[in-house]
Amino acid sequence: MARKLAAGNWKMNGAAASLAEIEALAKAHPDPTCDVLICPPATLLSRLSDRASGTAIQSGGQDCHAAVSGAHTGDISAQMIADAGGSHVIVGHSERRADHGETDADIVAKAQAVWGADLVAVICVGETLAEREAGQTINIVAAQLAGSIPDGATGDTTVIAYEPVWAIGTGKVPTLEEIAEVHADIRARLTARFGPAGADMLILYGGSVKPSNADEIFGVPDVDGALVGGASLKAEDFGGIIAALERA
Ligand code: 13P
Repeated sequence: MARKLAAGNWKMNGAAASLAEIEALAKAHPDPTCDVLICPPATLLSRLSDRASGTAIQSGGQDCHAAVSGAHTGDISAQMIADAGGSHVIVGHSERRADHGETDADIVAKAQAVWGADLVAVICVGETLAEREAGQTINIVAAQLAGSIPDGATGDTTVIAYEPVWAIGTGKVPTLEEIAEVHADIRARLTARFGPAGADMLILYGGSVKPSNADEIFGVPDVDGALVGGASLKAEDFGGIIAALERA
């Protein structure tokens, strides 16, 4: 399996001044024992990649179009993310699924586009609060996994992120038992479908991860890192999460 991954998703936050956080993070963690990824807004990707060059910090996109190029006003392609220095692209984030009506089929096409640019796809899944309360978590996540990951996925090309929608930006986190149940089920389904490649894929947890809860979350079996929103914006907070992953 690849090294564990601490991934930051800055969402629609950050401007030029935020790049100072990258320098602070690189200084505090010059040689981490886990991989570190920041996905800034597209406007910052190229500058962030330049600043991170020569450090252990990798950069990536938060979404991409499924096509390589063309008449798609406002969109960016995986090739453009690669050209800007990115190594990964998040696809299928619940905010894209909810705000832009992205379907599992869209996410398969985007993940294939990411692979086509020789980048790693971070494919997100997760249930809503109503789905959890209806006892549908495992079914929903299983359906998203089946529908959103293209055939041929491997641990080199694909990372899975389990992000319960109700835990994103709310300060609410599932119990460790609930996280363990979903991650074990994801691992079993990945292995059933992809064989040894499924055993190699990193499975990240995302949703209100902070320095104060990272140690216990990273202690859960089959949690191979985190996809972090709010707490990735400040080097000190994200550094605390990186340190917890290094201890795990
Ligand atoms: P928060 O860490 O802010 O809850 O966001 C999680 C997330 O959606 C990362 O993609």
